Amino acid sequence: MTEDALVIFTPSGKRGRFPLGMPVLTAARQLGVDLDSVCGGRGICSKCQITPSYGDFPKHGVTVADGALTEWNAVEERYKSKRGMLDGRRLGCQAKVMGDVVIDVPPESQVHKQVIRKSATQRDIVMDPATRLLYVEVAEPDMHEPTGDFERLAIALRDQWQVEDVTADLALMRRLQPVLRKGEWKVTVALHKGNHDATPRILDLWPGFHEGGLYGLAIDLGSTTIAAHLCDLKDGAVLASSGLMNPQIRFGEDLMSRVSYAMMNPGGDVEMTRAVREAINALAASIAAEAGIETTAIYEVVFVCNPVMHHLLLGIDPVELGQAPFALATSGSLSLDARDLDLTNLNRAARVYVLPCIAGHVGADAAAVALSEEPGKSKDMVLIVDVGTNAEILLGNETRVLACSSPTGPAFEGAQISSGQRAAPGAIERVEIDPVTKEPRFRVIGSDLWSDDPGFAEATKQSGITGICGSGIIEAVAELRMAGLLDPGGLIGGPDQTGTPRCVPEGRTHSYLLHDGSAEGGPRIMVTQGDIRAIQLAKSALYAGARLLMDEMGVDKVDRVTLAGAFGAHISPKHAMVLGMIPDVPLDRVTSAGNAAGTGARIALCNVAARDQIEATVHHIHKVETAIEPKFQEHFVNANAIPHATDPFPELNAVVTLPDVSFNAGGAGSEGRRRRRG
Ligand code: FES
Repeated sequence: MTEDALVIFTPSGKRGRFPLGMPVLTAARQLGVDLDSVCGGRGICSKCQITPSYGDFPKHGVTVADGALTEWNAVEERYKSKRGMLDGRRLGCQAKVMGDVVIDVPPESQVHKQVIRKSATQRDIVMDPATRLLYVEVAEPDMHEPTGDFERLAIALRDQWQVEDVTADLALMRRLQPVLRKGEWKVTVALHKGNHDATPRILDLWPGFHEGGLYGLAIDLGSTTIAAHLCDLKDGAVLASSGLMNPQIRFGEDLMSRVSYAMMNPGGDVEMTRAVREAINALAASIAAEAGIETTAIYEVVFVCNPVMHHLLLGIDPVELGQAPFALATSGSLSLDARDLDLTNLNRAARVYVLPCIAGHVGADAAAVALSEEPGKSKDMVLIVDVGTNAEILLGNETRVLACSSPTGPAFEGAQISSGQRAAPGAIERVEIDPVTKEPRFRVIGSDLWSDDPGFAEATKQSGITGICGSGIIEAVAELRMAGLLDPGGLIGGPDQTGTPRCVPEGRTHSYLLHDGSAEGGPRIMVTQGDIRAIQLAKSALYAGARLLMDEMGVDKVDRVTLAGAFGAHISPKHAMVLGMIPDVPLDRVTSAGNAAGTGARIALCNVAARDQIEATVHHIHKVETAIEPKFQEHFVNANAIPHATDPFPELNAVVTLPDVSFNAGGAGSEGRRRRRG
């Protein structure tokens, strides 16, 4: 009779011979097979579930007999009767090897399980969070061998989990003795080890075996909006996503005006720091309530933000970022205690990780986009534009990646637009204007119906039609241009010039009436000449930034464009190109990445190794400074026209014919004049 047996694990394919009587969990650990356990093999946690297979396996060269594992035991029976377990499953810590066997580790039993994202073009996240739960049994105190309770807990973690030199703060020490005694020397700890931590630390502990969740927040802290995802640190699931306006807007709409506020008002930076931290606390409370969890179950927060937001979050005066050479106080990543940032609506011991910045104007948000979209692994030349109040732009392929940041202002987020609002139910998000009748139709967030569909009024009764959000204003401006109501210079024509009473005079200019809800007490939603100007400035800054990177890279065209940003997924590629937001490229080569910065934050939250990856990557990204580059101004001016004064758009022209119109401010226009083209 043989003394050992062959054990083959799938899907990893790892195999080895083990002595008869060895628990499957032990064999898995010795082979480095990814099999989870919180209780350390005590039959409590059920994380170690496996599925043995029986019969002939020619592929593996083994036959698995019925008695290949020890019989179903009382621990498994108790677990199955109380909590349920799928037929055919066993607990890896209870089932022992008695013969050659093939064992499948189902995805939910893998520690480093992959979170499959919805879009096939986006990368999956491998779970490897910095914080995890461990159950330990601690030796009782002995008068003859005096040691502290904490020291015996540390020894238990070393012996049972190979965790060395664990630390804890004073507040945890204060709770330690009653918890140990209540749990009769059995406790579960939440253990954290960030990528820069020399030693792991205990963030929390509970008597006995604890199954409560560990959660983390991935926060994209933007100039205009703060967007957060609440993630389960066990499997990466997003339990809730929420956002709110950055309250710092009252100190200045864009980054430079906030830096100016700090410069002009002593203590202004402290005010802005307080405001944003209060907002994050409020957001943490509301997102936890939405997900039905306690805020105390949030143990980690990962931040991505531009350099000014980064400094203001940390309580560092951003004044140096307002003047050349735009020096950051620190560009490296940071690991901090959340309470040091006054983030109190979290677990008291929660940890914060802030992604590294690339340079004084290119922040951790751009780093997060690079982590999410991985331009450095692309074979073709990809332009990634993260549209926000400050656009983060990356251009590159596997040989080189460039980055810049461009001050687009808040127009794309619906701010500084006369009827603008953030993307919320009731906001117009899609617009079409009939080129013949010049009549609009639109869709609002919260309903799939167009405004001329039957049932639209009923469907939008609750939300109302309240304003126009970022993607809505982009479509509106592009549609005005395509319908011949707007000339390449960005002037809206008058009613006589355009033939529609929807173009109404306002002083020396005209506005287009998109929706009149005044009869029902709602707003009149207009696109004004001022709105067009704000969008022109924003899109010119964005386009000029992209062109600058193309100059630096020495290319005239890019192979594909990825639109990212909180509303990046909602921008229609055609409208973005009609507007001249992005360089000419085949429309099917323009894709959306959703909130890539937020995704980068989620990746860093769920996978501690990804933090090392992005810290290494930022050193290889070459940043281009738009603020001091003379060509930026030139590109900016040329980009002011819709779509552009000098760049040809052959790909766009192949699918859209833009009418030749020209209007004069306050005067008669002439139609039929040729558009200027380079
Ligand atoms: S390891 Fe916890 S039940 Fe098996």
